Amino acid sequence: MTDLLIRGRVLTFVKEPEGIDDTGAYRYYEDGAVLVTNGKIAGVGSYSDVVKQAGSGIRIADHRPNLVLPGLIDTHLHFPQTQAIASYGAQLLEWLNTYIFVEEQKFKEPQHAAFIAGRFMDELLSNGTTTAVAYCSVHPESVDAFFTAAEERNMLMIGGKVMMDRNAPEGLRDTPGKGYDETKRLIGKWHGRGRAHYAISPRFAITSTPEQMEMSRALVDEHPDCYVQTHLSENKEEVAFATSLYPEAKDYTDIYARYGLLGRKTLLGHCIYMRDREISVLAETGAVGVFCPTSNLFLGSGLFDRDRFDRLGARHAVATDVGAGTSFSMLETMDEAYKVLHLQGQRLSPLRSFYMLTLGNARALDLEHRIGSLHAGADADIVILDSHAKPAMELRMRVASSLAEELFVLQTMGDDRCVAEVYVAGRPMKRGKRADEMTPAARTAEPA
Ligand code: GUN
Ligand code: ZN
Repeated sequence: MTDLLIRGRVLTFVKEPEGIDDTGAYRYYEDGAVLVTNGKIAGVGSYSDVVKQAGSGIRIADHRPNLVLPGLIDTHLHFPQTQAIASYGAQLLEWLNTYIFVEEQKFKEPQHAAFIAGRFMDELLSNGTTTAVAYCSVHPESVDAFFTAAEERNMLMIGGKVMMDRNAPEGLRDTPGKGYDETKRLIGKWHGRGRAHYAISPRFAITSTPEQMEMSRALVDEHPDCYVQTHLSENKEEVAFATSLYPEAKDYTDIYARYGLLGRKTLLGHCIYMRDREISVLAETGAVGVFCPTSNLFLGSGLFDRDRFDRLGARHAVATDVGAGTSFSMLETMDEAYKVLHLQGQRLSPLRSFYMLTLGNARALDLEHRIGSLHAGADADIVILDSHAKPAMELRMRVASSLAEELFVLQTMGDDRCVAEVYVAGRPMKRGKRADEMTPAARTAEPA
């Protein structure tokens, strides 16, 4: 691929910001540039420096006065729930039974799975998200559709087949043996192919028997380089049900601990109703609690206590959790994160917010060498943000006087309209894939 020079106001974090104006936490180049060679970043800095590094005849994508940031990262969402966003009026368990377990049955149909997978990836991209960690449905076909759509766009994506062998409709249940075999085959097919990473995905303790949890342990032991994703302590009724199914466990977290499922590669959605003991177990094992603010508000689940995670030294990340989450936009997600924390007397500074969307979430995935910051050698996944994209934002920005204020306007008022462009491994993708680059199934309009 030929070289490309992306010019604009370049912003990238180097560490977690400690205060509202911790200027040492980031690098900012007012007239900056990122040099891209063969899908990787070859140089970052002021335009005048980086242009010298570029050869003559270089293509320049001039995005001034927009911001140039690393592509955004979403650490928890459900691709088969793309058409189930905005399902009315229920809390978690009723919502799953009424809407989600009906919707996910459609994904046994490969054509439907391919259609939604394509739309899902394009929606992520139009919101500036270049990497996501997703649950597929129980059907292996849905995993093939997911990774095929990611591969067609060359996106670094993490995902896996949900395993469920109880408390779900028959059409969505596997068995401990089938869940193991199908997961094993899918890991062999996809994990490490191009930019794909596999996540071993027992949905949660309620939908897996002890036998399936044992099989999950075997998968984790046999594939320590795969991620693990599940749900933990999202809703009071869920906590009571889960712990009643595993009476020998000390608490909900202990269920996963007993089956060896907690480690640095484990992502635990929600983590709201946690004792200090449980958060300390996450701290000891390196497992990551995933804060899903729009989902937690939409389902009436509760408020994630970030400061307690920080105090007890546990890792955490942030995510949309579509389709309980109400938006694919990580900007809108941080808007709600700010409010959820505010309700508990906690502050989320704009610098910390944008750190979390980029380097913070990359660190939660142990992928910071590849994504989440703009540095030489990183993958060229880049988002261009326009803080003037809506008339009300343009008016507000006339009186903004600092970078932090601009970021706060972006997260409070912004959405996909603020994503002027997104680059995946150096290629512009905002307008999605061209039809001639897609598989036949993904190219068709919605299947009948
Ligand atoms: N817990 C188990 N499955 C799900 C799901 O699909 N969404 C949410 N929000 N919580 C869950
Ligand atoms: Zn979820």
